Amino acid sequence: MPSKTTDGRGHLLWGGRFSAKPDALMQAINVSIGFDRRLAAEDLAGSKAHAAMLAETGVISAEDGQAIQNGLAAIEQEMAAGTFPFREEFEDIHLNVEKRLEELIGPAAGRLHTARSRNDQVALDLRLWTRGACERTIEQLRRLQRALLAKAETHAATLMPGFTHLQSAQPVTFGHHLMAYVEMFGRDAGRFSDARMRLNENPLGAAALAGTSFPIDRRQTAAALGFDRPMANSLDAVSARDFALEALAAAAISSTHLSRLAEEIVLWSTPQFGFVRLSDAFTTGSSIMPQKRNPDAAELTRAKTGRVLGAFTALAVVMKGLPLAYSKDMQEDKVPVFEAFDSLELALAAMGGMVDDLEVDAGRMAAAAGFGYATATDLADWLVRVLGLPFRQAHHVAGTAVKRAEALGVELAALPLGELQAIEPGVTAEVYGVLTPEASAASRRSYGGTAPEEVRAQIARWKEVLR
Ligand code: ARG
Repeated sequence: MPSKTTDGRGHLLWGGRFSAKPDALMQAINVSIGFDRRLAAEDLAGSKAHAAMLAETGVISAEDGQAIQNGLAAIEQEMAAGTFPFREEFEDIHLNVEKRLEELIGPAAGRLHTARSRNDQVALDLRLWTRGACERTIEQLRRLQRALLAKAETHAATLMPGFTHLQSAQPVTFGHHLMAYVEMFGRDAGRFSDARMRLNENPLGAAALAGTSFPIDRRQTAAALGFDRPMANSLDAVSARDFALEALAAAAISSTHLSRLAEEIVLWSTPQFGFVRLSDAFTTGSSIMPQKRNPDAAELTRAKTGRVLGAFTALAVVMKGLPLAYSKDMQEDKVPVFEAFDSLELALAAMGGMVDDLEVDAGRMAAAAGFGYATATDLADWLVRVLGLPFRQAHHVAGTAVKRAEALGVELAALPLGELQAIEPGVTAEVYGVLTPEASAASRRSYGGTAPEEVRAQIARWKEVLR
């Protein structure tokens, strides 16, 4: 918290505001309410479930149980109204809630923490938060997929150059290209759903690390909190953070996909490519160059990847040397998780907006699809199919034709028949049927290929999946 330790210009304030006694420093390094207040809803849900179970199993009296529930409900209202006092002197969200509960209901508040520790409490809170984050991200990925699907449907037959090494390779359709991202984001959603499935076990009831001597019912709290089962090892329950790492890994991978699409949008929207135009809503102007339309949203989507990948690394490094069970290091687990999901959420939303608004210059894309001898493979394939040449020889003949076309300054489709026959006497005029980008794309009907009918089949399949 720079505001606490510096004056904004980097000067230490320890001498003034802080007494510089160890206790002030201790509080400064120890306090987490500034960030773990984001776990307030999860903390309350956990406390309600715990208190209900304690009352039901007779660990606390029904009256105390009811008083605690009333107090927690009042706290919930204070939080909704924005009047809950988050106080640094009470360190973290757990102690803030407990202190407030005591102020509201008196000594009965002290019974809530029976058979519980902040260790299982915080493990529970972050697990619940991460579960929610996975669910929200899956929804967002689905929304983005639908946006891409709609564009792909419009452009199932729109030709564009397909690239490898960012060099013209073979013509593809824009719909096909967009559907590649639909596949990627589909796998991303799958990863979040796998992570969600594996994390959905209840750590509550592990107490500090060893379990408890009270006759608690961990199945009951598991059910109340939507978990599939209690975690089976109390040491594991309080010290595992692989659920967060797994969600962050899924986030990191998804971010790289967003970043690749963002990069392509940046490239396509340059005047040199001119394939797409971003809406005014997703571009900014330059303060000095009047002609500029900068794709800032795409650039920032690309850049957010740094934060998300950094978050995975940060938590992995925090965890890698920790002995079992809980260590205070683990308090540092939250910021990377929040940071990653905040960044990813924003990037997914921005990308959805950009895709919705994307204007496609189909004419320019199609013209570019014919540049760079992109149908040379089609010529080679024709020589194999019609004249029976071995592919290696056909490749050589087509290469020679490209060289000749280059020398004459024409595309392959405009190379005179005589020129082609001078290279390979068997060539007939029929070959021109495969040398246009349209014919090239239309011929690639293999499953998953770029032919418009195949692209439409994939779109239809995804529409079913996303319904
Ligand atoms: N604020 C702590 C955290 O985030 C809660 C757990 C504290 N446990 C303890 N034994 N001090 O990890």
